[in-house]
Amino acid sequence: MKSNKKWGAGLLLAMLIAIVTACGSNGNNQASNTGGASSPEPSPSATTSASASEKPSGSKITLGFSQVGAESGWRTANTKSIQDSAKSAGYDLKFSDAQQKQENQIKAIRSFIQQKVDVIAFSPVVESGWDTVLKEAKDAGIPVILTDRAVDSEDKTLYRTFIGSDFVEEGRKAGQWVVDKFKDSQEAVNIVELQGTTGSAPANDRKSGFQEMIASNPNLKVIASQTGDFTRAKGKEVMQAFLKAHKDIDVLYAHNDDMALGAIQAIEAAGLKPGEDIIIISVDAVKDGMTAAAAGKINFIVECNPLLGPQLMEAVQAVVDGKEIEPRIVTNETTFTSEQAKEALPSREY
Ligand code: AHR
Repeated sequence: MKSNKKWGAGLLLAMLIAIVTACGSNGNNQASNTGGASSPEPSPSATTSASASEKPSGSKITLGFSQVGAESGWRTANTKSIQDSAKSAGYDLKFSDAQQKQENQIKAIRSFIQQKVDVIAFSPVVESGWDTVLKEAKDAGIPVILTDRAVDSEDKTLYRTFIGSDFVEEGRKAGQWVVDKFKDSQEAVNIVELQGTTGSAPANDRKSGFQEMIASNPNLKVIASQTGDFTRAKGKEVMQAFLKAHKDIDVLYAHNDDMALGAIQAIEAAGLKPGEDIIIISVDAVKDGMTAAAAGKINFIVECNPLLGPQLMEAVQAVVDGKEIEPRIVTNETTFTSEQAKEALPSREY
């Protein structure tokens, strides 16, 4: 009898602990959910990964994500991919838009730390200046994942992985195409460059990769290079200034489609034919860019894939499960000539 009583008391205690743990597991999520990912039930596709979580079963993974902004078609597609994938995975997504400002991203990351999210992910607007806030996340025991853009922190333990494109390689592909196109030219080829956001990884890397390739032919000269901040409006404005200052532009290299599309408006307004009078190369391959390429207004596009959501959610799950992940996950990408863009356009996802 005595031992039966002991068993009964032990069982009661175990049940109480289980109830308290289950109730407390989501107690940190006080802030409102601003992402499009508030689905209460994991979708069937996410059930397998969610069941592997080390978190108590039934408790959702909370992911804080700080996005750069909404500066381009690429960014819109990237945001949708992240929100849709978080929803499918059944994660509680706290989404914050930094409007292209580093200080807003730092604020968002600090707020995620305060809210004790499970994982923080972000796409850093610029490369430098992250060490302090990343150290704060590390000290709080919250793992950080970088997506799309890199940081230049020397301490690689400040984040778990970086998922995204090889921007230097993208610049090289653009440069190589120009080298091939003008291989027989005996005269100077005047190139103007529309750079992405100053200090951002894609602007730095696409510039250096391009330079590396065109350096093989001294006829290829960048006569003007300025930021268009990855936006259509700025691309147009800067191209207008280039056209005013230089009467002899042969090539435009734009670090993204949106700036190329803005520049096309300026070129047409100046009475010139984009793709003929001025050869145009851009990066991204979003639908609008591909449409311009199919129409012959952009001659060559280097793809930069924005659909990083599924890979990010897999990495989040792995980190929560305490698994090792690769420190660098590179996205597979291709290139498109006008002809190839025509073929690919009907089935283009973004
Ligand atoms: O970081 C990726 C770049 O950011 C895309 O090429 C550009 O369109 C975006 O704004």
